Amino acid sequence: MSNQDNILVLPQTNQLLSLYTIIRDKATSRSDFIFYSDRIIRLLVEEGLNQLPVTPRTVQTATGVNFDGVTFQGKICGVSIMRAGESMEQGLRDCCRSVRIGKILIQRDEETALPKLFYDKLPEDIADRYVFLLDPMLATGGSAAMAVEVLMSRNVPQERILFLNLVASPEGITLFNKKYPKVKIITGVVDQGLDDNKYISPGLGDFGDRYYCV
Ligand code: PRP
Ligand code: URA
Repeated sequence: MSNQDNILVLPQTNQLLSLYTIIRDKATSRSDFIFYSDRIIRLLVEEGLNQLPVTPRTVQTATGVNFDGVTFQGKICGVSIMRAGESMEQGLRDCCRSVRIGKILIQRDEETALPKLFYDKLPEDIADRYVFLLDPMLATGGSAAMAVEVLMSRNVPQERILFLNLVASPEGITLFNKKYPKVKIITGVVDQGLDDNKYISPGLGDFGDRYYCV
């Protein structure tokens, strides 16, 4: 059963469109690709934080008057799907100082596009935390689904997982949301679809290669 309420796409402002135009352009240099991807990542992290529950908190202001505000309820951690997901860790750290970060190494087979799990290292108390799952690309959805299975095997409830993602395919979103309707997907854009190589189209190519290598 799907749950559209848990698919959040950032507002498609001209600013966001201009950032995506730069990172989609194959002529963009690696340093610009990193800089503008990081700006989008920051927006995704801020939107993820918007989704967390809060409790009331009253403070006294410098004018001596009480202000009825709120404070975050609960603890968070990040989990990056390596390699490309690691690019999103700094954006999370910039907003949440000394946040704990776990890693799951999943690689998509270049021939079959099927994901393979190699390694995971997660905070011991992850079951008590909200988990910001980080991966810039959601193509077939296989890698993200495998990562969620790892988290669920550590007793993280779906309701506490927020998947932050830069570019999604409609196929990946549909599969993921059907399988894990209680996981919140926060994405920057949903593209047209997958090409014959199971790459997102129009997409931006191989995110990990562009961020780390070329
Ligand atoms: C990419 C990307 C996702 C996955 C998406 O990683 O970062 O993890 O592919 O594809 P899917 O939705 O079809 O599973 P890749 O395995 O290429 O490795 P990388 O992070 O080292 O670039
Ligand atoms: N991985 C990427 O980096 N890009 C795609 O389009 C699909 C998988």
